[in-house]
Amino acid sequence: MSITILGIESSCDDTSAAVIKDGFLLSNLIANQSVHEKYGGVVPELASRAHQQNIIPVVHQALKNANVTKEDIDGIAFTRGPGLLGSLLVGTSFAKSFALAMDIPLIEVNHLQAHILVHFIKDLEKEKKLPAFPFLCLLVSGGHTQIVVVKSHKEMEIIGQTIDDAAGEAFDKCAKVIGLPYPGGPVIDKNAQQGNKFAFKFNRPRIKDLDYSFSGLKTSFLYYIRDHIKEDPNFIQENMMDLCASIQYTIIEILMDKLEKAIQQTGIKQIAVAGGVSANSGLRTALIERAAKNNWETFIPEFNFTTDNAAMIAITGYYKYMNKEFASQDVAPIARFAY
Ligand code: KG4
Ligand code: ZN
Repeated sequence: MSITILGIESSCDDTSAAVIKDGFLLSNLIANQSVHEKYGGVVPELASRAHQQNIIPVVHQALKNANVTKEDIDGIAFTRGPGLLGSLLVGTSFAKSFALAMDIPLIEVNHLQAHILVHFIKDLEKEKKLPAFPFLCLLVSGGHTQIVVVKSHKEMEIIGQTIDDAAGEAFDKCAKVIGLPYPGGPVIDKNAQQGNKFAFKFNRPRIKDLDYSFSGLKTSFLYYIRDHIKEDPNFIQENMMDLCASIQYTIIEILMDKLEKAIQQTGIKQIAVAGGVSANSGLRTALIERAAKNNWETFIPEFNFTTDNAAMIAITGYYKYMNKEFASQDVAPIARFAY
């Protein structure tokens, strides 16, 4: 029997819809919201309004691109959380109405679990090796930084996580300090490619076990810049590329050191990365280099599957559909959602 799932993602500032048939991706559409740029971060109220405007056209186009009609959809999966409540409400309400109107199962999805299961999306064009259980996943996004032992499609255990800011937040906040637009991660990445990563040295946090901390790094970056601007008002402009390369290098080294520790502790050598920060070219290179040295097998997502997308919601929904894990019509979104 063939199963077609429509996935809906609206947890933050991207409205996305995707269609997956038997694990193969047929379409994945993402509408970004540029309205937040001038505020230097996502404005929740504006995000939910934009989702409300985008959701129908995005779903319509995703069905069209997949060459399916709404009658072909067997189940609809949506992000229940974590995320911004107003944003989540738009996707949740849409999915409930769609399920009711089409008389198909409704499937709730945890956004974090979905970021990880992105590695199971199959491609019609090319053969892809899927990770085997258990594997480790470094999940690095704007809201989360975790090392997760993935035991099955539904069983995941966090063995390390940030005690304050997420890695994506560290990128975004440091970018803001040097006047770069939101989201700062991709801009730092681009600038870093022309800079010297050893030009400036920033202190790394000393946090126990496999946990992370990034708030101190942001503060020391802020003070470093402030002190140097006092001596030279053009300090940022004159050193932009080196500053980006150095702060990026520091964040990557912090991430990789704990990941390496987790690999030593668990003995698991299949390593995946996921989440928006896994788009970072420096992080990808660092992972590949350390993997070659240590004999790890790596799973690095395609760029369009790193940041928020509905393909990851649809694939998670597909596995839940196969397990008959359906939600009822009284399901409500939740801003904080554990595995
Ligand atoms: O996974 P995601 O789209 O949303 C959350 O669930 O949070 O991640 C967004 C985060 C932002 O902080 C953004 O700056 C960061 O991912 N990001 C990057 C890059 N692309 C996106 N950070 C570093 N380098 C990149 N190339
Ligand atoms: Zn995300």
